[in-house]
Amino acid sequence: MTFKIKILPDFVVNKIAAGEVVERPVSVVKELIENSVDADSNKIDIHIRGGGKNEIIVVDNGLGILEDDLLLSVRRHATSKILNENLTNISTLGFRGEALSSISSVSDFFLSTNSNNNSLGFEINLTAGKLKSNKPINKVRGTTIKVKNLFFNIPARLKFLKSDNYEALLIKRIVQKFSLSFLDIEFNLFIDDKKTFQSPAIKEKSWDEKLLLRSTKVLGEECLDNSIKISEKSEKFLIRGLLGIPTFNFSNSNNIFFFVNNRIVSDKSITSIIRVAYRDFLTHDRFPQLVLFVDCSSSEVDINVHPMKHEVRFRDLQSLKSLIINSIKKNLEKTNHLASSINSKKAINQFIFNEEAQEKIFLKEKKIKSSQFESKYSDHKKNYDAHVNSQYPLGFAKTQLHDTYIISENKKGIVITDQHAAHERIVYEKLKKDYYGNEIKRQILLIPAIIELDNLVVKNIEKTIKIAHQYGVKIEIFGNNSIIVREIPVILGNCNIKEFVLDLIDELVETSNIDSLEEKINKVCSSMACHGSIRAGRNMEVDEMNDLLRRMEDTPFSGQCNHGRPTYVELKLNDIEKLFGRK
Ligand SMILES: Nc1ncnc2c1ncn2[C@@H]1O[C@H](COP(=O)(O)OP(=O)(O)O)[C@@H](O)[C@H]1O
Ligand SMILES: [Mg+2]
Repeated sequence: MTFKIKILPDFVVNKIAAGEVVERPVSVVKELIENSVDADSNKIDIHIRGGGKNEIIVVDNGLGILEDDLLLSVRRHATSKILNENLTNISTLGFRGEALSSISSVSDFFLSTNSNNNSLGFEINLTAGKLKSNKPINKVRGTTIKVKNLFFNIPARLKFLKSDNYEALLIKRIVQKFSLSFLDIEFNLFIDDKKTFQSPAIKEKSWDEKLLLRSTKVLGEECLDNSIKISEKSEKFLIRGLLGIPTFNFSNSNNIFFFVNNRIVSDKSITSIIRVAYRDFLTHDRFPQLVLFVDCSSSEVDINVHPMKHEVRFRDLQSLKSLIINSIKKNLEKTNHLASSINSKKAINQFIFNEEAQEKIFLKEKKIKSSQFESKYSDHKKNYDAHVNSQYPLGFAKTQLHDTYIISENKKGIVITDQHAAHERIVYEKLKKDYYGNEIKRQILLIPAIIELDNLVVKNIEKTIKIAHQYGVKIEIFGNNSIIVREIPVILGNCNIKEFVLDLIDELVETSNIDSLEEKINKVCSSMACHGSIRAGRNMEVDEMNDLLRRMEDTPFSGQCNHGRPTYVELKLNDIEKLFGRK
């Protein structure tokens, strides 16, 4: 049986389109804010109820809609935004003319607007896409859109939504994202009548300053303490923003904020580029914090990829990718031995919440007069300033605790260093650098090490031996069942040669399937570094400790070990004084 082909009626087409454009309440909020931004508003208020399912209201003070355009605005593919046929050079956030028609076809929809400076405005009401009323009203300039009972006519979609709280959380996040991207616009979010987020407009400051202020609002002070500014340019792209240092990391990508020409982009390919940039500093299951803006000519990027416009295609993804990766690495290098402040804070809290110790401190303190304190303290301070050279951020080693931690004194306080983690980083960076420079220094073993292996392994080992040679390890086949190790890199010093070589062989076999040469090299060097590093539990002399600290200061990324854990924590004198109730 055949059926005649017919064109779907408008209300059905709109409902289908709505499924693509508005997935859930947050999509409505996003589209409405985009329209308000496009209308040059500088204040946007958002009110939601029941996670946006019951009601979403967006109020702006923008240009408004002309009376004649009012009914057009809710028609599908109706847009006032200037376009050329090729959809290139799109400078507005909207361009498809789909949002209002979609939203109004799946809700009880009210649009009131005034494009003049008088108080005469107009309001239309549509329910499930059908016009219910159109009347003049009193209204200040700007546009207010109210969306009630979203998806009331698509029960299947309604069922798929999550709890009110969760939907509200998604909305809060998107409002925060807009507030990071549009620094001159004031945003206020009210959830069930309660003001939950606000970002006042910031005037007369530089972009950098504004971004810092907004980021503090959105991410909190702590995040800023653990970020550095970035600004890098290539022929086609400008990237700028804030980079979280690796030790300040998270279990999901919610703290990655990425904008392309001010548009919020959540594109998997971008997240993966960022992860590549941080790969050396974070384990695969951790994510950094990042606020990154990419600016480029609009002809470099296609935003017409996804109905919700949160994916983009770059004409030259490769060059953007290398700019992002190189800039992130280069800038993280500047943080050198910067370990996240959060770790020191955690440590301080450990001290503070050790109540028993705290009791004792206070009891003793009461017995001693404060004047005694003062004089002792200033004596101490003089000595201290004389002895500590501010050139060395990690200070001078005083002692080693539990054969594992180096305690040193610097200008600002004391530093506790995890000797194994720190040394591992140093060895790793050195091995990598030498590998790339083709200058791994080798040492000939006075007594070559003979290692027995399964003869099947020995038969297949030729290729592995060649690669091992590039890493400074000279191995020869020695009979059917063994190999002989003649040289190893100097930096690995007196490691357990047998364990090291067996691990290296495993690693080389395992990494032979990895396509990325860089990743391969990183993995091999990382595994080698582990063997060459000072073990926890080894006693060290003061000179050796100082040597390690100096080398850390010279090594990029030494604030964290290869797995993103911090290599040291710093307790500032200021904080120590607080612990003792002196401040
Ligand atoms: N808040 C607003 N202020 C002024 N004009 C608006 C606003 N919201 C919508 N409009 C008008 O309605 C039109 C349709 O909006 P929409 O369906 O979102 O499509 P698009 O944003 O892609 O043009 C817009 O092009 C604009 O002219
Ligand atoms: Mg729009």
